[in-house]
Amino acid sequence: MQTANDIRRVFLDYFRQQGHEIVPSSPLVPRNDPTLMFVNSGMVQFKNVFTGAEKRDYVRASTAQKCVRAGGKHNDLENVGYTARHHTFFEMLGNFSFGDYFKDRAIELAWNLITREYGLPKDKLTVTVYIDDDEAFNLWKKIAGLPDQRIIRIPTSDNFWAMGDTGPCGPCSEIFYDHGEGIPGGPPGSPDADGDRFIEIWNLVFMQFEQVTKTERINLPRPSIDTGMGLERLAAVLQGKHDNYDIDLMRNLIEASAHASGTDPDGPLNVSHRVIADHLRSSAFLVADGVMPSNDGRGYVLRRIMRRAMRHAHLLGAKDPLMWKLVPALVGEMGQAYPELGRAEAVITETLKLEETRFKQTLETGLKELEGAIATKSGLTADGKLSGSVAFALSDSRGFPLDLTQSILRDKGMEVDVDGFNAELEKQRERSRAAWAGSGEAATEKIWFEIRQRLGATDFLGYSTEKAEGQVLSLVKDGQEVAEAKAGDVVALVANQTPFYGESGGQMGDAGRLVTAGGAVIEVSDTQKKLGDLHVHLGKVVKGHVKAGDAVEMLVDHARRSGLRAHHSATHLLHEALRRRLGTHVTQKGSLVAPDRLRFDFSHTKGMSPEDIAWVEHEVNRRIRANADVATKLMTPDDAIAAGAMALFGEKYGEEVRVVSMGGRESEEPKEFSTELCGGTHVGRTGDIGFLKIVSEGAVGAGLRRIEAVTGAAAEAYVAEQQKQLAEAAAAIKALPQELPARIVSLLEERRKLERELAEARKVIATGGSGAAAEVQDMNGVKFYGRVLEGVPAKELKGMADELKRKLGTGVVALVATADGKASIVVGVTDDLTKRFSAVDLVKAASAAIGGQGGGGRPDMAQAGGPDAARAAEAIAAIEAMLRDHVKAA
Ligand code: SER
Repeated sequence: MQTANDIRRVFLDYFRQQGHEIVPSSPLVPRNDPTLMFVNSGMVQFKNVFTGAEKRDYVRASTAQKCVRAGGKHNDLENVGYTARHHTFFEMLGNFSFGDYFKDRAIELAWNLITREYGLPKDKLTVTVYIDDDEAFNLWKKIAGLPDQRIIRIPTSDNFWAMGDTGPCGPCSEIFYDHGEGIPGGPPGSPDADGDRFIEIWNLVFMQFEQVTKTERINLPRPSIDTGMGLERLAAVLQGKHDNYDIDLMRNLIEASAHASGTDPDGPLNVSHRVIADHLRSSAFLVADGVMPSNDGRGYVLRRIMRRAMRHAHLLGAKDPLMWKLVPALVGEMGQAYPELGRAEAVITETLKLEETRFKQTLETGLKELEGAIATKSGLTADGKLSGSVAFALSDSRGFPLDLTQSILRDKGMEVDVDGFNAELEKQRERSRAAWAGSGEAATEKIWFEIRQRLGATDFLGYSTEKAEGQVLSLVKDGQEVAEAKAGDVVALVANQTPFYGESGGQMGDAGRLVTAGGAVIEVSDTQKKLGDLHVHLGKVVKGHVKAGDAVEMLVDHARRSGLRAHHSATHLLHEALRRRLGTHVTQKGSLVAPDRLRFDFSHTKGMSPEDIAWVEHEVNRRIRANADVATKLMTPDDAIAAGAMALFGEKYGEEVRVVSMGGRESEEPKEFSTELCGGTHVGRTGDIGFLKIVSEGAVGAGLRRIEAVTGAAAEAYVAEQQKQLAEAAAAIKALPQELPARIVSLLEERRKLERELAEARKVIATGGSGAAAEVQDMNGVKFYGRVLEGVPAKELKGMADELKRKLGTGVVALVATADGKASIVVGVTDDLTKRFSAVDLVKAASAAIGGQGGGGRPDMAQAGGPDAARAAEAIAAIEAMLRDHVKAA
C-alpha cells in the first residue's frame, strides 16, 4: 500500500526530477494576502510571483501545502465528519509554472504522474475543460488519448478557478476518478454529478488573469500554471478506499481517538472520531502557525473548530480533556513532512488542554440549559426552532459558538432561529454602545468606538513577523472617517491585520511604512491601540492616494523594533534582579520602553546604594550573557499567576494572557529567572539585548523609585560618550583618566588652601597698607573709613570691618564689595560710638543707593545687599552724608 507519506514523497520527487524547485509549505496564516483568512490552496504563497510583483530564482515549483478551509469563502465546517470528503484541514499537492510551461506541458506532466507513477488505469479517468477551451480539449485528446465523451466541457465557475474575490485566476481543467458503478452518481456536468461516483482528484488551473477588483480583470504578464491535488482524495483512490477518512493517515488518528476514549472506532459514535481526527489536524497546525483561540477573527475560527471537536469528545464520554492526548499520534503521522509540528508540540498540547479544560467547565451546564429549553418548549419558536435568545445566551455565557449549537441540534433534526440570534447580537452591541457612551470618555474617542464595533479587533501578527499585507478598512482624517487620503494628509489608518505593535504595557507603538498596491506610501510614526485591540496607525501619506479597501504592504521599522524588543526584555530582567537584591516588595509601578532607553518605576522606600546598583546591573548582564531562550506561552491569568508569573497590579488581562519567561539556567531552580505576564514584543534570546547600563536611579514620589537604563547600541553609545567626557576631563588637567579621582581631590585641597591665602591677602590690602591711614576722614573728631572693594566675596567683609575697627580704635567703617554686578555693604561702628550712630541706620541709608531692601544687624555691625553694583560709591557717599549730618547736629 502507498501510504499518505509515500504518496506525498512520490509527488515531490517526480516534480523535482522534472526541474521543479521543492518549496516548503507556507504557514497557514497568509503573510502576503490580506483578503484571505487562511491559506486555502497551494498557489497562495506564489500569488505575487504570478502577478509579476515578486521575482524568485526559479520558474517552476512544487509543494505540499497545508490548507485550512473553515471560514471565509470555502467554509466546510458544518459538514465535516458526516461526509466522505469534507475537511477543515487538508494537504494540497501542486506544481507551478511562473511564465514557464503552459497547458500542454502541464497536462502531460499530470497525466504521466497519475498513470505511470501512481499507476491509475486510464479507463477510470475522465477530465473536464472550460466550455470554450478548445486548446485544452485537443491537448487531452492528443496527450492522454482520451475519447471525446470523456473530455467534458463545463460552462460554470467549476471550471474557472479564482482564489478569492481578487487575485490570479483562470480557466481550469479537472481530472476525475471513477469509483465505479457500485457508487451512485454521474459524470461531471451530468444531472447526477453531485453523487460520489466521479471524484475530482486534480485541478489544473491555466492562470491567465488577475482579478484586480471585483469588476476589473487584467492579463497576467505571462500565462502560468497552478495545479492542486488533495492528498487525502488521491490517497483514498490509491489505497482503494472511497472515503478520505479511511486512508492510513486519517485512520490512525481515528484509532488514536478511539483508544484514548476507550470507544469503538467504527461504532455508532464513529462521526465523533472523524470530527476529532479532522479538527485535531486543523487545530494543531493553526496553533503551530501562531493562531491562538480567541473571540475574534482567526482565533475565533480556531476556537469554533476546537470546541466542536471537544463537544464530540464529550459525546464519546471522555471525562477528562481528550484532544491533547492525540497530539503525539498526529506528530507521528505528519511531523516528518511538517517539522513545525514537532517544534510546536508543547504549545499545541498546552493550548488544547487549556481550551478543553475551560470549555468542559461550561459544556455540561450549557447542554443542560439547551436540553431544558427544548424539553419544556420554553426555548422554541412557534415553528419549532431554537429561539435566538437561547442560542445567544449559550454563546454569550457558555462559550457555545452558534455553529456548535447548530451542530448539536442537527443531531436532533432541529435548527436555530438565526435571525433571532442576530437580533440578540445586535441588541448586545447596542447595549455596549450605550454603556460606552455613558462611560465618560472623550467625545473624540467615540469615532474609534464606532469603528471598533463595525470592524472588530485588529489581528496582530507582529509577534512572529515585522512584515505583512493587510487591507485598509478605515481612514480617519481630522477626526472624521474618510474614503481616501492623498499625499500630504495626516491620517489614522486601520487595517484588518497588522504586524505593527500598538502602544501598550509601556512599550511604545511601532513606526514604519505602508505601501499600497497602487503605490501610495504612508510613513507611520506611531501605532496606538484603541479600545484594547484596535490597532491605529498614525502617519502621513507621503505619496499617492490611499483608499479604504486598498491592499497594503506593512513594514515595521526593523531597527526601531529591535531596540524596543531589547529594552522590553531588559525591563523584565531588571525587575527580577531588583527583587532579588532589594526584596520581593519591589514591584513594577510603571515603565516606558522606547527604542533607545527604558524607564522602570518600582516600589521601594530607600535610595539604592552604589553597590546595589552595581549588583543589579551585573546580575542583568550575567543573564544577558547566558543567552537563554525567551519563551512565550498562553495561559489563563490564574494559571499563569499560580505558575509564578509576576502580574502587574492594575493591568487589565483578557481571558488568556501571554507569559514571557527568560534568563534561566538549566542548573537553577526555578529554571526561569524571570516570568511575567506580558503582551509586549521580546528578543528571541537574552543575548540579543547585548548589554544593559543603568544611567540613573532616583526618587519620583513617596516610596517610588525610578531607574533609567539603556541597552544594546544605545548602551554602547552611552558608555562611549561617558568615556569621551572622561578623556576630555583628563586632558584638561593633563592627567590620565585613571589618575583623575586622586588628582581632583588634591586640586580641591589646593584650591581651599589658595582661597584661604587669598582672603588673608585681601584683608591685608583692604585694612592695612600705606594708603589706608590717609583715607581715614575726620569728621569733627569722628573717624570714618569708607571704601569700595571690587571682586571681594561678601563673606569676607565682616572680618575686614572688624579688623579696621580694631585699627581705628574709635570710628565708623563702611565697606562695599562688588561682585557679579551685585553689591554688599557692611557698616561697623566701634562700641564707644554706638550710642551716637547705629550701624543699622547707616546701612539702611546705603542700601537704598544700591537698590537694596534695607538690611539689618546690630548697632555695632550691620549689613545689606543690593543689585546695583555700579552705584557702590554712592552707597559710601550716603553713609558719609548721614554721618556728617549727625556730627553737625551734635
Ligand atoms: N488553486 C487551485 C485549487 O485550489 C489549484 O491549485 O484548486
